[in-house]
Amino acid sequence: MKRVITYGTFDLLHYGHINLLRRAKALGDYLIVALSTDEFNWNEKQKICFFDFEKRKALLEAIRYVDLVIPETCWEQKVRDIKEYKVDTFVMGDDWEGKFDFLNEYCHVVYLERTPEISTTDIKRKLGEKNNAV
Ligand code: CTP
Repeated sequence: MKRVITYGTFDLLHYGHINLLRRAKALGDYLIVALSTDEFNWNEKQKICFFDFEKRKALLEAIRYVDLVIPETCWEQKVRDIKEYKVDTFVMGDDWEGKFDFLNEYCHVVYLERTPEISTTDIKRKLGEKNNAV
């Protein structure tokens, strides 16, 4: 069985996320999503999620492409996860192109093209603009 892993926040789940998850799953048989915890998002990315960790996890678990959701609590856990879950392929969107090439020592690293014109940040900004216009 070929195992694939990807990392992210996946807040306000949108079609760009689904496209990423579908293509990630197609690279193997079992897809693991390492989902940023609320603490990690705040401490490392200065992001506050609209949906908390448990809600984001439940949404991901309802997606047919996703087999397992684990917490992402620090940048350094990737090598440990790859070994522990016997990962064959590490996948990220191409906004991270080149950033994780060092993991090629442990598994195959793939960057998938991002879906254009959609992001959680954009959704939040556009909804904010709409609400301000009312
Ligand atoms: N992703 C994608 N296409 C998009 C948005 C995200 O392929 N339009 C991918 C990212 O490249 C990443 C994963 O989905 O591999 C999770 O991304 P995340 O940062 O959680 O989503 P964004 O919508 O980019 O959120 P933000 O605006 O907060 O960065």
